[in-house]
Amino acid sequence: MNLTTEKNNSASNTLNNNQKAFLDISHIDMVFPTPTGGFTALKEVDLQINKGEFISLIGHSGCGKSTVLNIVAGLYQATKGGILLKNKEVNEPGPERAVVFQNHSLLPWLTAYQNVELAVKQVFKKGMSKGEMKEWIEYNLKLVHMDHAMHKRPNEISGGMKQRVGIARALAMQPEVLLMDEPFGALDALTRAHMQDSLMEIQNELNNTVIMITHDVDEAVLLSDRIVMMTNGPEATIGEILDVKLERPRSRLSLAKDLEYNRLRSEVLTFLYEKQRKVENINSNAPTSKAASKQVVNET
Ligand SMILES: Nc1ncnc2c1ncn2[C@@H]1O[C@H](COP(=O)(O)OP(=O)(O)OP(=O)(O)O)[C@@H](O)[C@H]1O
Ligand SMILES: [Mg+2]
Repeated sequence: MNLTTEKNNSASNTLNNNQKAFLDISHIDMVFPTPTGGFTALKEVDLQINKGEFISLIGHSGCGKSTVLNIVAGLYQATKGGILLKNKEVNEPGPERAVVFQNHSLLPWLTAYQNVELAVKQVFKKGMSKGEMKEWIEYNLKLVHMDHAMHKRPNEISGGMKQRVGIARALAMQPEVLLMDEPFGALDALTRAHMQDSLMEIQNELNNTVIMITHDVDEAVLLSDRIVMMTNGPEATIGEILDVKLERPRSRLSLAKDLEYNRLRSEVLTFLYEKQRKVENINSNAPTSKAASKQVVNET
């Protein structure tokens, strides 16, 4: 099936024409045990994703985005419901689902190169010669602008650089499903824009299915086929799903003036800051002070 047509038809969280989803997040509840009893973080999260789709998960801090991602990664087991990938149940991590974690997760005793190498060896141990492997690792580190520091260890590089190595490691595994938890959050604006463009190119070429958590509304609209907006927890669930039918390839410059782009952008903002507005008192102990009456809307 023509991917563009398939993408444009995905108007909700269920698939048309009764086809089986490539990735099926099926009726998930997640209850965490706590000293005071169970905490229901997620309730009835249900989402069917097509092959090659780019999904952004957006919602306020603490609503359960990472929990959803960890369940798809096979790191958490849902309390109710489950994950099907190509009709097979997921209940453990696998190399076909690479994860870029919210906090980079490199092995501290290995260099950037060796961290990527470890993952590449795990996936391609038989299919690649030593030379091909070296070339592939270097190619992926270059993609994230880390070729100049590939022989440095994590404690010798910045947080943003560590995050870029984590992204290179995930991409180098050529996963069918790429799971990314705020992958560009720690990067400066220029590197971030470069990484977003690279990711769009890579995804266009490899047709991997991506679930990316982001707090950045522009990033979500620029990259996604669908933006999945989550309600505030506890018992967080999918509030709304926005179809992004902007033509690809997309360019941030021409989109800035695009009416549809700006409409989508404002839909997400309305969801976050009106419908799911999260308000907290700064100082609830001093109700007469000015500070107490001042309220803060969380920046997600
Ligand atoms: N292991 C755990 N035990 C108990 N509660 C947990 C656990 N992990 C997460 N939670 C709770 O579940 C809720 C969802 O957490 P999660 O980390 O998925 O949120 P998030 O949307 O990723 O937030 P952020 O945007 O800040 O990363 C939060 O209230 C959190 O405190
Ligand atoms: Mg999180």
